[in-house]
Amino acid sequence: MTKHQVFALAGSGTLALEVGVANIIEPGDKVLNVVNGYFGDYFVKISKAHGAVQKTLEIPWGKCVEPHQIREALKEDDFKAVTVTHVDTSTGVVNPIKEIGRVVKENSDAFYIVDTVCSLGGMEVRVDDWEIDACVSGSQKCIGLPPGLALFSVNDRVLDLLEDRKTPVGMCYGDLKNWLPIMMDPSKYFATPPVNMIYALSESLRSILAEGLENRFKRHHIIAEAFRAAMDALSIKLVAQEKCRADTLTAAYYPEKVEDGSFRSEMRKLGIIVASTIGPIKGKGFRVGHMGNVCENDILSTIGAIEATIARLGCTCGFGVGLAAAQKELAVL
Ligand SMILES: Cc1ncc(COP(=O)(O)O)c(C=O)c1O
Repeated sequence: MTKHQVFALAGSGTLALEVGVANIIEPGDKVLNVVNGYFGDYFVKISKAHGAVQKTLEIPWGKCVEPHQIREALKEDDFKAVTVTHVDTSTGVVNPIKEIGRVVKENSDAFYIVDTVCSLGGMEVRVDDWEIDACVSGSQKCIGLPPGLALFSVNDRVLDLLEDRKTPVGMCYGDLKNWLPIMMDPSKYFATPPVNMIYALSESLRSILAEGLENRFKRHHIIAEAFRAAMDALSIKLVAQEKCRADTLTAAYYPEKVEDGSFRSEMRKLGIIVASTIGPIKGKGFRVGHMGNVCENDILSTIGAIEATIARLGCTCGFGVGLAAAQKELAVL
């Protein structure tokens, strides 16, 4: 969903975030970092590391940032860049990046940098239409690859900016000027590319396009709805508020009596691995990824395992209640 320059470098999503910031920011530039989860804070650390004068727009975990909050924040200073996390994997909150893109363009000259590590390939990210200057992501989530590729795109505004910089980019490996010739002609050399991962990416993109992007987004949405319906039926509360729930991952709070370590080890015995919540809600809940190539069977077996596990741990939510609610949602697949 971009006609601009894409890059694939050996590294994880964090590298993509850093490359995006490092190439746009020079020491002393002002940056607005929106933080409503663990990964939003990565942009704060990275901005500081590259000498930015950063301001954090802090939103409580579980809520999304509202476009009017960005508009207000932009009045306070002349920001060179605004960073937003599309889906924060710590909460399962989705931020309205389309609307924010419009606000950023209408109210400033700031570059708009969006972390799509937990959404690209699973949810709509119309990079060019939504005015995203740098879209930064990774391989291991909705693209369905092993970890190891930093994937990102930048538009011509960013490429032009590289010509006007007064100071060198604060990282040699991530200096886009070193990579631009390679992306145009991979027979050239700057640093050894992860050829194995590039083959894997090519294969994965082939299967994504064979499924069709719209179909893929729809599948993610239906599976997410099924999982949310199941949690609701089991009276398990979600971390993200209702109006901003991502289709790629859900974070939920444990019901009473259920303790993190026992829950996850019981689930593991049933063959399902779920992550704990992190940051200030560490140990209070669990996170289920339903992204990439996750199918109906995966989500139903996860819900079944959750029902069995909470019952074993003394919670009387009733067997089959979550499964029945999920099956209704899945019927449209
Ligand atoms: C939203 C988000 N941003 C950034 C990152 C960092 O990516 P990586 O762990 O691939 O470096 C992650 C990792 O889970 C993430 O979920």
